[in-house]
Amino acid sequence: MLTPNPRVVFAKRPGTGLPVPGEHLVYDASRSIDLEAVPLNGGFLTETLMLSPEPFLRERMRDLSVDSYSTHAVVGAPMVGFVLAVVLRSEKEGVNPGDHMLGLSHWEAYTVQPYMEGRVDFKAGKYPDWTEDTDAMALYQVGDPKGIYPWSRYFSVLGGPGLTAFCGLEAYGDPKKGETIYISSGASAVGSILIQLAKEKGLRVIASAGSDAKVEYMRSLGADVAFNYKTTPIAAALKEHGPLDIYWDNVGGEAVEIAIEYLRLHGRVILCGAISEYNVAPKDRHGVKNLSEVCKKRLRIYGLMVAEHMATLGPRFFAEVPALMAQGKVTARETFTEGLENAADAFVKMLQAGGAEELGKPVVIVAKE
Ligand SMILES: NC(=O)c1ccc[n+]([C@@H]2O[C@H](COP(=O)([O-])OP(=O)(O)OC[C@H]3O[C@@H](n4cnc5c(N)ncnc54)[C@H](OP(=O)(O)O)[C@@H]3O)[C@@H](O)[C@H]2O)c1
Repeated sequence: MLTPNPRVVFAKRPGTGLPVPGEHLVYDASRSIDLEAVPLNGGFLTETLMLSPEPFLRERMRDLSVDSYSTHAVVGAPMVGFVLAVVLRSEKEGVNPGDHMLGLSHWEAYTVQPYMEGRVDFKAGKYPDWTEDTDAMALYQVGDPKGIYPWSRYFSVLGGPGLTAFCGLEAYGDPKKGETIYISSGASAVGSILIQLAKEKGLRVIASAGSDAKVEYMRSLGADVAFNYKTTPIAAALKEHGPLDIYWDNVGGEAVEIAIEYLRLHGRVILCGAISEYNVAPKDRHGVKNLSEVCKKRLRIYGLMVAEHMATLGPRFFAEVPALMAQGKVTARETFTEGLENAADAFVKMLQAGGAEELGKPVVIVAKE
């Protein structure tokens, strides 16, 4: 018996602009699969439960002439990103129906999987080691995280965003109690966890986001000062509430220049991402004009790539962050979009300033168990 097997295809490179659902990302409902009889060839068949729209997927859509930290997405193939899936059938030893798998896979309802890299075991401190080769689809078995969190936590605090916030702060922040950190895009998946980790370190936190609801959310997470950058200019907020010891940059562009202005001597800048520039041609991006301040103030500027820190800081992350969650000191929130057919919209919304009005990490529910 055939079952519909819809997918989201990467149909066309978007150049420097925002991807358009239906043009660059196309929902294709034409395919079907025989779930009982499809050959597994020694692999296993998964059903996708959730997928995670993330900014790095935009980087994978770049033109072939542009080099970067990740491989290029393949035109005509389904999108590949982080998914949570459940095993339906298996010919692979150690993989059984009902097992939950997390990792890079197709944005489609059902997939015959060739890869399975290992087992994530929080108790034993065994964690995934994703490489930057995002063409390789790799799934890892995951267990219910201590039986008390929803699976979607693997996309927020227990996944890439949590790891990014933890690794960046530990590797480069050099945080000292009483210092002040400014976090742009503070209501994002990364920013919302970072606010809490920074408070745990005894930092005073200033955070900004693109809506009043997000400002309330950032306050609820512990931000000492939270503001809407659309109604309060960043410079005005930092003039009133600075100076800064650390600037965590999630947005790039003008925000970096303004933060440099308000950093103290020996301040640190952690460049985590530049989402304001991902859909803008290089000639139209904001050039930072005050780099001479870096020298005058002896600032340290770091470029962060989370995968680089997994081996060194991953074990500490998996020891410390689930414990902070259990104590209620770090919380996470995911907001859900229902249906694979809405995945492209959820992704593109997230790429826009003030875009996702919902709070917390965007997650797309593809199927319910
Ligand atoms: N270095 C690494 O290893 C690493 C790993 C993961 C993520 N990142 C980066 O971290 C940042 C946050 O990622 P995330 O997954 O946490 O994001 P997210 O939860 O998907 O949130 C993205 C948010 O960015 C803001 N935004 C979008 N376009 C913007 C623009 N033009 N100007 C200002 N803000 C804009 C929007 O919030 P507002 O309402 O605030 O506008 C949007 O909701 C991104 O830059 C991402 O690339 C880096």
